[in-house]
Amino acid sequence: MKTRIIISLIVVVCVALLSTVSGVNSAEYDYEVKAKKMSFGWKVVGDTLAVKMSAKTEGWVGIGFNPSKKMKDANFVLGYVKKGEAKIIDEFGNEPTKHTSDKKLGGTVDATLVGGTEEGGITTIEFTMPLKSADKYDPAIDVNGETIVLLAYGPSRDSFKTKHKYRTALKVNLSTGASEAVKK
Ligand code: HEM
Repeated sequence: MKTRIIISLIVVVCVALLSTVSGVNSAEYDYEVKAKKMSFGWKVVGDTLAVKMSAKTEGWVGIGFNPSKKMKDANFVLGYVKKGEAKIIDEFGNEPTKHTSDKKLGGTVDATLVGGTEEGGITTIEFTMPLKSADKYDPAIDVNGETIVLLAYGPSRDSFKTKHKYRTALKVNLSTGASEAVKK
C-alpha cells in the first residue's frame, strides 16, 4: 500500500515537472475571442503570452499587437503549416500597409513556435512570445490595459507574401478577457 502511494506521488511529481519544462500546455488557454472568421485564444503565463490562432485557410494565419495606424508599428506573428510542418515569422509593421521581419530590420526573433495543424481546411498555429522583449520591434504589451489585436489570414497558399483574405481589429484586455470590435 505504502509503495503504491509512493509510486503515485512520484508519478504526480514527474507530470508536474514535465509540464513545467515543456512550457505551456497547448490545450489550455484562458480566453478565446472569435472574430467572424478567425479565433484567438490566449493565456498569460508570467511574462509570456501563449497564443493559439485559427482560421479557415490552408495559407497563413496572423496576429498583430498595438498598431499606431493601420498595420504600422504592430508586432506581428504569422504562421502556416506546409506538408505537416508549422512555421512562424516574427514581423514588425514598418509602414501602414507593410510588415518586415524583425531580423531584417535589425531586431531579433522572439516568438517561439509551440505547434501547428492544418486539418479540414483550418490552420491552427500556437506560439509563445514575451510580453516585453529586448527587441525594439516588439513594443511591450500591458496585459492590464487595452491591447489592440489585429487578426488576419491569407488565401490557401503557403506563402507569407500573399495579402489577407480577411482581417479585423479587436480591443482586448488580455488579463480579463474582455473584448470588443474596433469600430471604424
Ligand atoms: C502578409 C502580408 C500583408 C499584406 C501584403 C498586407 C497589406 C495590407 C494593405 C495593402 C492594407 C490596406 C488596404 C486594405 O485595407 O486592405 C492592409 C490593411 C490592413 N491589414 Fe494588412 N497586410 C498583410 C498582413 C497583415 C496581417 C498579418 C495583419 C494582422 C494580423 C494585417 C492586418 C491589417 C488590418 C487590420 C488592416 C486594416 C487597417 C485599417 O484600415 O485600419 N495585415 N494590409
